[in-house]
Amino acid sequence: MNTDLTEQTSYPRADVDPPSGSLFPHKHLLGTWALDPTAIKHLLDVADGYVEQNRQAIKTKRICAGLTQINLFFENSTRTLMSFEIAGKRLGLDTISMATGSSSIKKGETLLDTASTLNAMHPDVLIVRHGDSGAVKLLSEKMDCAVINAGDGRSEHPTQALLDALTIRRRKGSIHGQTIVISGDVTHSRVARSNIYLLNAMGARVRVVAPPTLLPKDIGHLGVEVFHDMKQGLEGADVVMMLRLQQERMQGAFLPSMREYFHFWGLTREKLQAADKDVLVMHPGPMNRGVEIASDVADDFDRSAIQEQVEMGVAVRMACIDVLTRNLREEAGS
Ligand code: NCD
Repeated sequence: MNTDLTEQTSYPRADVDPPSGSLFPHKHLLGTWALDPTAIKHLLDVADGYVEQNRQAIKTKRICAGLTQINLFFENSTRTLMSFEIAGKRLGLDTISMATGSSSIKKGETLLDTASTLNAMHPDVLIVRHGDSGAVKLLSEKMDCAVINAGDGRSEHPTQALLDALTIRRRKGSIHGQTIVISGDVTHSRVARSNIYLLNAMGARVRVVAPPTLLPKDIGHLGVEVFHDMKQGLEGADVVMMLRLQQERMQGAFLPSMREYFHFWGLTREKLQAADKDVLVMHPGPMNRGVEIASDVADDFDRSAIQEQVEMGVAVRMACIDVLTRNLREEAGS
């Protein structure tokens, strides 16, 4: 099992190129690791405005008209790709999704050649998902435009953590001081890492709950409390984030059987009784019902914020694209 955490902490702060006075002094959004509370709060504040815009009949305000967004997804995606595409369109960008299956990547073109080719087409925002940790950062070094990491390997998925933070802030009033449990396949989860960095930066108390085989052994270095028992880990929790078992990233035996996994680690009504009575249940999707979460918990509208997370995803991605292209638009005088 690869328990190396250095890949997460290797993001340099070199992507920080502060235009003076900016609340978000970054050229790219590669991870939450490099974000301070001011930058996080700024993105969430901007996203709040887009939640309201997205609830109106007319949802498109073409503040980014004339700019081009390329979505480059080397891994499957439903909600992340769709929500980046909708986000771009609602801001008025020309959005293009590149099908990596039919591109020259299949012919053996290297990632860096692909980057140079795309760069020559002068996009203004590049959204990238890739199966290898660090690939998005590598690509960003070859691009003149803003690059947003839509998930790289098991490393980071910053817009997921931001949409989770927006969901929590809107439901609970604040992130600071909340006891937040992240439970399930932490080892293979970029969602867990991005959330741990962000939630710690915002002053939450973060717990991870999982069998030892699904936790990197040095996870405690990231400033979380570690539990190997669901009921103990859930005690008094304000928020529970369940993670999908990422079997596509598992090599070897991590688990006895799905049935046994659900018995010990699946979120059920009974186990939830240990949490605070107003506990909020979250899941980034896609869900394995009956594996990491029981259907009646996932569909309990009083507690589950899973659909709301999807809604917040569009608003957060609009905020990221808006904020990262602001200088460009100001320079162009639009
Ligand atoms: C997550 C991902 O791709 O890392 N999903 C998502 O972006 N909505 C989590 C997962 O695939 O389990």
